[in-house]
Amino acid sequence: MSQFPQLRMRRKRLTPWSRNLTRETRLTVHDLVLTTVITDSKAAEGPVASLPGVARLGLDALVEQAKEAASLGIPAIALFPHIDPTRKNATASEALNADGFVPAAIRRLKAEVPEIGIIVDVALDPFTDHGHDGLMLGDTIDNDSTLELLAKGAVILANAGADIVAPSDMMDGRVGLIRDALDHAGHPDVMILSYAAKFASAFYGPYRDAIGTASALRGDKRTYQMDPANADEALQEVALDLQEGADMVMVKPGLPYLDICHRIKSEFAVPTFAFQVSGEYAMIQSASENGWGDSDRLLIETLTAFRRAGCDAILTYGAIRAAKLLAGE
Ligand code: PBG
Repeated sequence: MSQFPQLRMRRKRLTPWSRNLTRETRLTVHDLVLTTVITDSKAAEGPVASLPGVARLGLDALVEQAKEAASLGIPAIALFPHIDPTRKNATASEALNADGFVPAAIRRLKAEVPEIGIIVDVALDPFTDHGHDGLMLGDTIDNDSTLELLAKGAVILANAGADIVAPSDMMDGRVGLIRDALDHAGHPDVMILSYAAKFASAFYGPYRDAIGTASALRGDKRTYQMDPANADEALQEVALDLQEGADMVMVKPGLPYLDICHRIKSEFAVPTFAFQVSGEYAMIQSASENGWGDSDRLLIETLTAFRRAGCDAILTYGAIRAAKLLAGE
């Protein structure tokens, strides 16, 4: 036995060029989806305290961000609306307003930044006064009456020009119903990105602040979002959504659920997205603000980890920052 190591793992790590040459996973700007919070209320525009670096955008600012994202090569933008509380009610009627704020935002983006793909959440929580993603029947969230609303809402978003609708409500059967409704409404090419494995997570806190549902939310979402302890169940959710016609599936939150991403990609080999949610992004930003970490490096490292786990794309509030870093800024 030689006194020297037979194989020196460190050889390949010695220079930047050889690290580049042997790198297994590439993170590129094409893997990023810019996550934005938009608001219909002038007074609510501006920074979100619990989400450092993210602002609620009015439509002019949204168009500016979308232009910047497109010029950097970011393929798509995802919209999350903060709706004035006076327009919320128990039946989420604003979600069915074809002249509402979200359809208007989509129309402006389509007109002014046609080169970027538009992804819009289909869920009732921005529009309900109780903060839930479905209709309440007494104390319960009613699956089947919610489905009809989701399907109608998805058609309204598609009519306005959404390229991808993303049901994030976790009601059973919604993907199939939405697919059917889109096809009947003449939108066979509008894609469905289903939040197939969405967990009842404590990482959504800053988002709920951002869209103004944190204080309104009655109870929690554990009767429809998944138990963080479950993984086989996530595969079952994905199988169902694919059967019902989902074009892409999403795991949410992201980083604590990389095992789920990996299992989905290995099992189904379909486009698999992850959402680096508000709480994950806030952790990175707050560590950095406190001098406990470098937000740029944390961002690139976490996004690369998603790719290594098998994700095809990542929704992140840090997409513009990451795109600039990748471009060598
Ligand atoms: C719900 C929805 C959630 C997020 C986006 N849409 C979670 C929730 O409130 O249950 C979270 C996004 C984030 O935390 O960044 N329809």
